[in-house]
Amino acid sequence: MATAAELLGTNAEVVIRPMRGADIAEVVAIERASYQFPWSEGIFRDCLRVGYVCRVVTANRMVHGYGVMSVGAGEAHVLNLCVGEAFRCRGAGRQLLLCLLERARAAGMHEAFLEVRPSNTSAIRLYQALGFEQVGMRRGYYQALNGREDAAVLRLTLRPAAPPAS
Ligand SMILES: CC(C)(COP(=O)(O)OP(=O)(O)OC[C@H]1O[C@@H](n2cnc3c(N)ncnc32)[C@H](O)[C@@H]1OP(=O)(O)O)[C@@H](O)C(=O)NCCC(=O)NCCS
Repeated sequence: MATAAELLGTNAEVVIRPMRGADIAEVVAIERASYQFPWSEGIFRDCLRVGYVCRVVTANRMVHGYGVMSVGAGEAHVLNLCVGEAFRCRGAGRQLLLCLLERARAAGMHEAFLEVRPSNTSAIRLYQALGFEQVGMRRGYYQALNGREDAAVLRLTLRPAAPPAS
């Protein structure tokens, strides 16, 4: 599989690493530009504080995307996955999600879940490409400009992480 740097098609040094408090201003700027109902700075701070798996993708040390996931009771929940508009369609979202799922496997989780707006076709294609399947619908789950919007619930069964080579 191609590396993030190859997919991004630049000479930039592309890194996926744990999110830090100092990243939150850049993360929130991307969040606000990407969603009509963005998470607040406080939500990201809480995610770090409670120990959710929070990752950023950086190129030349600038944050261009992030993913947030909770793990527990055998299940991982991908709570946010977002790439800055200028950086989309270059493989960063896929690499971020693969990184989160790898972390979930390593933590012994059996399944990963996420919610997505049925209108978000680019995200749904990414999730389906990685094997997620729709298992339900939450009625009126999301805020929308004209009321509420449903959420499709997607699930991926995680293969156990390979044991370390002896
Ligand atoms: C969804 C999102 C994270 C994808 O990130 P990305 O870096 O653009 O995605 P990638 O380049 O890694 O694309 C991976 C796959 O996703 C699908 N995809 C991504 N963008 C797409 C688009 N505009 N149209 C159709 N399919 C798309 C394709 O299957 C693609 O695989 P391919 O390149 O082999 O065709 C990004 O569009 C985003 O941040 N959107 C706004 C926030 C959001 O809606 N997040 C999801 C909330 S549930």
